[in-house]
Amino acid sequence: MAQTIVEAIDVWKDFEPVEVLRGVSFALAKGETLVVMGGSGSGKTVLLRLVAGLIRPDAGQIRVFDHAIERLSEEDLLLFRRRMGFVFQGAALFDSLSVYENVAYPLREHTSLGEAEIRERVVRNLSLVGLGSEVLGLRPAELSGGMKKRVGIARALSVEPEVLLFDEPTGGLDPTNAKLVGELIRELRAGVCDTAIVVTHDIELAKAVADRVAVLIAGRFATLGPVAAVLETTDTAVQAFLAGEAR
Ligand SMILES: Nc1ncnc2c1ncn2[C@@H]1O[C@H](COP(=O)(O)OP(=O)(O)OP(=O)(O)O)[C@@H](O)[C@H]1O
Ligand SMILES: [Mg+2]
Repeated sequence: MAQTIVEAIDVWKDFEPVEVLRGVSFALAKGETLVVMGGSGSGKTVLLRLVAGLIRPDAGQIRVFDHAIERLSEEDLLLFRRRMGFVFQGAALFDSLSVYENVAYPLREHTSLGEAEIRERVVRNLSLVGLGSEVLGLRPAELSGGMKKRVGIARALSVEPEVLLFDEPTGGLDPTNAKLVGELIRELRAGVCDTAIVVTHDIELAKAVADRVAVLIAGRFATLGPVAAVLETTDTAVQAFLAGEAR
């Protein structure tokens, strides 16, 4: 049995008055990519934030690297967070910082590396996502949408994470760039980080990267299984969601 990297056990979370998650459970094994799909506002980002320990569940348990994290202090949480790479929805780069400083940011936060090592890692991580050192001095406003996503991924790779959490990595991209980001996620998996949760409503991306797909509907996983099985589901709510996304 592969090691379990992330486990959610009957997780509930509301933001008054909205019950966002109403009993979500799953286990992510080392080496696996789980894709979480669901409509806008269904709670996908909330779920990723729970896994990263950025917010706490109202009930249920989140286990990361075999430790329950829902009651840890901020200080202890940091130790777990630095083992995870979070690729935020819409890249969420710091507009006033250069690409170099954006990618270096987690290294300055979480490590005591010297400038030479930081530079080496920044350049290496940018090259892993297909960007050369000519972008180092650029600001986010000077990048295309696809480049911003790549910089966001490079930043998440800085800490050499054991699991990557992607929030809508192809959101807002044209089909060609979306496909390239899908290929990049597959390459990363074969190289620097083999385990991931990918939140998306892009069915093509799900097909390209998923071992298993979950569909979040009304606060629960309406289905969780291999891509082919989910695409052929007889669950009418999941069918309706997939038909809507396909259009
Ligand atoms: N910090 C917060 N305070 C209050 N409500 C919140 C907060 N974070 C999320 N919510 C609510 O939780 C629900 C789920 O939000 P979430 O961002 O997880 O949706 P999503 O599935 O990621 O949507 P999208 O596909 O548009 O990104 C929404 O109703 C949202 O308004
Ligand atoms: Mg979201």
